[in-house]
Amino acid sequence: MRIAVTGASGLIGTALTASLRADGAEVLRLVRRPARAADEVCWDPSAPNGAVNPGALEDVDGVVHLSGASVAERRWTPARKQELRASRVSSTSALVAGILAAPEPVPVLLCASAVGWYGDTGDRKVDEAAQSGRGFLADLVRDWEAAAASAATAGIRVASLRSGIVLSSRGGMLPRLLPSFRLGLGARIGSGDQYLSWITLADHVRAVRFVLDRADLTGPVNLTAPTPVTNAQFTAALAAAVHKPALLRLPAGLLRLALGEMSGELLASCRAVPSRLDRAGFTFADSDISAAIRTAMNDAAAWPRDTAAGT
Ligand SMILES: NC(=O)c1ccc[n+]([C@@H]2O[C@H](COP(=O)([O-])OP(=O)(O)OC[C@H]3O[C@@H](n4cnc5c(N)ncnc54)[C@H](OP(=O)(O)O)[C@@H]3O)[C@@H](O)[C@H]2O)c1
Repeated sequence: MRIAVTGASGLIGTALTASLRADGAEVLRLVRRPARAADEVCWDPSAPNGAVNPGALEDVDGVVHLSGASVAERRWTPARKQELRASRVSSTSALVAGILAAPEPVPVLLCASAVGWYGDTGDRKVDEAAQSGRGFLADLVRDWEAAAASAATAGIRVASLRSGIVLSSRGGMLPRLLPSFRLGLGARIGSGDQYLSWITLADHVRAVRFVLDRADLTGPVNLTAPTPVTNAQFTAALAAAVHKPALLRLPAGLLRLALGEMSGELLASCRAVPSRLDRAGFTFADSDISAAIRTAMNDAAAWPRDTAAGT
C-alpha cells in the first residue's frame, strides 16, 4: 500500500506515518520545502494546483491531507484568520487539483476536518447528520469540507475526518495544560458546563486507518470518543491524573480579554458522538476520560519522532 500524506510532520501526521510504516505501507510525505529524502515530494499549498509533480502521485492508493496552520497557537487577528482559511480551504483545493492531474486516478482522499463544524451545540448530542453551526470555525470547516468534496465529482472516495480534541503528550492541548495542572493551578473554564469532544492520538490513528480501509465510508466521519465530557469533568480528571486539586475557575470575561474571538471556541460546547464509526464497527480503546488522559500522558514513546525513510 502506498499512501501520500500532507502535514506529515504534525502531531497526527507523525503518528499516522509511523503506524502505516510499521505495518509495511509505503508513505510519501508531501512537504512544503524542497524534498530532502526519497520518501518526500515537494508541494506548494498556495499554488493553484499544489505544484505537485503529477507523476509523484502515480500508484498512490490514497491521500491523507492533514496540513493546516494551528488554530490555537495565536490570537485570531484578521491576518491569522486569513492564514487559517488559506492553509485549509485553498490548500485543499490545490491538493485536489494536483490529485486530479495524476496519471492514474487516486482511489481515496481523506481530509482533516474538525468538530468545529457543529458550532456551539450546548447539551445536545450531535452526529454526522447534524447541520453545521455558526461562527468563524464552523464557516471555515464547511468550506474546507466542500473543497475536499469537489474531488468526489471525479469518482474519488472522499471522507472528511471531523476530529475532536486529540489527546497526546506529544502535542496539542494536553502539553499546554499540564504545567499549570502540575502546579495545582488547573482551572475550569467559564461555567465548566460546556462539552468537549475528545479522542486519544492512539485511537485517532487507528480510526484514520479504519476509514482508509473501509471503501463504504464516505463523507463526514466524527473522530471523537463516544463519551464527550464537560469542561468541569475534564478538569477534574486531568487534576486527578497529576494528583493535584483544581479548585480554580477562569472567568469567561477574562478569557475573552486574553484571547479575543478565539475564546469563543473554549467556551463553546460540542457534544459530538461517532455514529458513523460505531455503525461501521470501529471500537475505541479509550472511552473513559480518566483512563484516556493516562494513556495520552504516556504515549511519548509510542511513535518514533523522525519517521523519514532511512533516518
Ligand atoms: N490536533 C487536534 O486536536 C485536532 C483537532 C481537530 C482537527 N485537527 C486537524 O487535523 C489536522 C492535523 O492536526 P495536527 O494536530 O497534526 O496539526 P499540527 O501538529 O499543527 O500539524 C499540521 C501540519 O500542517 C502543516 N502546516 C503548518 N502550518 C501550515 C500552513 N500555514 N499552511 C499549510 N500547512 C501548514 C505542517 O506540516 P508540514 O510542515 O509537513 O507541511 C504541520 O506539521 C489539522 O488540519 C487540524 O486542524 C486537529
